[in-house]
Amino acid sequence: MARVSPGVEEALENVNEVSRGKLDLSWMNSNPSGWGVKATPRDERGLCLEDINRVGRYGEVPERGGKHGSMAPRGSNVPDDLPALGCYDIDDKSTVWAENVAHLYDEAVARQWSSARDIPWDQLTPQPEDLEKAMCQVCTNLAEIEFIAGDMPAKWMWRINHDFHEVKLFLASQIFDEARHMEVFRKRALANGGGLLRSSKSSEEGLRLIIEAPNFTVGSALMHILGEGFVLTLFRNGEMFSLTPVEKKIFRLCMQDEARHVAYGTMHLKYFLEKHPERESEIHDILQRGEEATFNLNQTRDTIEARAILAGGGIEHIDEGFKKMRFLFKKQITEYLHRLKMAGIDRADRLAIPTELPT
Ligand SMILES: [Fe+2]
Ligand SMILES: [Fe+2]
Repeated sequence: MARVSPGVEEALENVNEVSRGKLDLSWMNSNPSGWGVKATPRDERGLCLEDINRVGRYGEVPERGGKHGSMAPRGSNVPDDLPALGCYDIDDKSTVWAENVAHLYDEAVARQWSSARDIPWDQLTPQPEDLEKAMCQVCTNLAEIEFIAGDMPAKWMWRINHDFHEVKLFLASQIFDEARHMEVFRKRALANGGGLLRSSKSSEEGLRLIIEAPNFTVGSALMHILGEGFVLTLFRNGEMFSLTPVEKKIFRLCMQDEARHVAYGTMHLKYFLEKHPERESEIHDILQRGEEATFNLNQTRDTIEARAILAGGGIEHIDEGFKKMRFLFKKQITEYLHRLKMAGIDRADRLAIPTELPT
């Protein structure tokens, strides 16, 4: 064997001592105040994150992430010489926390679904050309925008202090949800004789605003409340755009996931503004830019034509489709303003876009 490093030498010495019966065992008594807990499931959902947060002091989340900046699990004994890794610098609870985050993670885990198995792909039926093309254009748009909601949390997640592990776990669940959304819309476009159609310049410009947001909270307000809020209302009315039971199921399952993402964003903004009311103007500024970008992204010719053809039931009924689109847009605005109100911010008089589409 080549000459070993001091670290390997120390590890070998440990092995030698233990094998000779020279035990330390001090770890056994390293965390007396954290010992003797017994978490139990509250119901048939099993042992949830919320359940283990109800025992001992394990559910106490500090306002500032542990000074150690390590990966030490919250509530464990942290030796004084534990090295900080230096990368977990998002350590202010108010910049990531939401009171419902553990609950939302538990729900995410319980409601995972598979785009391969849980969609009744065998119920797709041949469609008139205009409807299949409109569906494929809508799926192209959605496949293009869905994974921004995976990339944005991924950009910030690795910097979040481990004392806020509930947030990290929830964001990890969101990243996988979005992966599933991207794949399911791609699959729908490729599964019924059509294919992907045209990507969108406006979408790319809107998404850039999210990915380049200067901090997590601003990015979250833009994405979780505004962007995903609009998408949630769209999916909730997915029946309007569905051709077969396949699309209905896709929209319904994606809607459940989006509801969690929007709920996290709303409660996070509420928590943040309660702690930092002085930063409300920063949120207004970004939302103003976001509203303009979201409006442009949703009203491109490709998007509105395709959606109106689906909503009307064919190109010859596009007027009927536009009527439904106007109704949907009004709903998107109403629900968006309502969610912001829940978060403690009023934009009714400051909205940068019309509240109704022109007739
Ligand atoms: Fe999504
Ligand atoms: Fe989402």
